[in-house]
Amino acid sequence: MAFTKKTVRDIDVDGKRVLERVDFNVPIKDGVVGDTTRIKAALPTIKYLVEHNARVILMSHLGRPDGTGYQAEFSLKPVAEKLAEMSGYDVTFVEDTYGEKAKAAVDALQPGKILVLENVRFDKREKKNDPEIAKTLASYGDVFVLDAFGTAHRAQGSVVGPAAYIPAVAGFLLEKEVDTLTGIFADPKRPFVAIVGGSKVSSKIGVLDHLIDSADTLIIGGGMAYTFFLAKGYKVGTSLQEPDWVDRAKEMMDKAEKKGVKFLLPIDNIVADHFGEDATGEVVDSDKIPDDRMGMDIGPKTEKLYADAIAASKTVFWNGPMGVFEMDQFAHGTQAVAEAVADNAECTSIIGGGDSVAAVNKFGLADKMSWISTGGGASMELVEGKALPGVEALLDA
Ligand code: 3PG
Repeated sequence: MAFTKKTVRDIDVDGKRVLERVDFNVPIKDGVVGDTTRIKAALPTIKYLVEHNARVILMSHLGRPDGTGYQAEFSLKPVAEKLAEMSGYDVTFVEDTYGEKAKAAVDALQPGKILVLENVRFDKREKKNDPEIAKTLASYGDVFVLDAFGTAHRAQGSVVGPAAYIPAVAGFLLEKEVDTLTGIFADPKRPFVAIVGGSKVSSKIGVLDHLIDSADTLIIGGGMAYTFFLAKGYKVGTSLQEPDWVDRAKEMMDKAEKKGVKFLLPIDNIVADHFGEDATGEVVDSDKIPDDRMGMDIGPKTEKLYADAIAASKTVFWNGPMGVFEMDQFAHGTQAVAEAVADNAECTSIIGGGDSVAAVNKFGLADKMSWISTGGGASMELVEGKALPGVEALLDA
């Protein structure tokens, strides 16, 4: 699907003050940035703006501060330093977002230079999408660029606000994410295999529903499989389960059957007697889970079943692990699925945010995937078919 909004390519940025919302919500421990994926993903737009002589004012949230002012662990200062290191550009950081200091730093900013403002969420008005802060932020820029795909599902001050006051366009990351994640539904090469894992049916019901409308095969793994087992009348022992969602799970299976979509559930599982690093697994068939055992991963027969479906696919969308992959003894199923996707050089593989990204990175297979989304919640909302408020606020192309 073609992206329908204006992008930085469509506007003149030479000498202009460009207020850009990025998603620099990255893991930080003891003042050191861990994973830099999101900073790297933001670089093409930043580079474009610097090379086109813009005055680049970057803003982002980091974590979930309480909104009552500065909290050291949520400061963007280490991220600004990492950006300078990764880009090689001059980056100034200002310990202020909405006040006089921030305004003075914006006024002093020269063309081709970058300023990073402090965390937009240090003021609780950001999350409330208060027009006052939107107005203040908009006053820093001649134009607004949204490249924070990971936050585009949040109707918050710095995401949607400035678009009400100054011309607003998309950055390259936002454009590519939306294009890719909506494109698979517009005209996927078939067979289209969707893999959905993770713990809860309840949190992915919209995603499952939408995927059944487009995919040829739906593969289920992770804790959510046990609610589907309940819907099939199996016993699930002490496995994670959502009894209130059994009817919805059944509806999903019925819908898939009516539409001729193959709905693959695990046929065997690795179960354990408790949840913990010291737990050991044993293999049992899905209709024979003992009362005192909990499912921790898919079993070897299931790995083969899923790998065969993936090997025959031309498009793969994957969100959510197959088991408790953080524990090595229960990571095998997730690894087998990741390897099957990586081994299929013919298919377009799209990894939709969150834990499946962590899994692909853990197994060193990231560079084998066609696209790894930088958004968790945002990519899920797109896959559900929802419009993202941040994107909606931009100028139409
Ligand atoms: C994310 O990490 O998913 C985004 O940065 C959004 O963060 P939030 O869930 O705190 O709004």
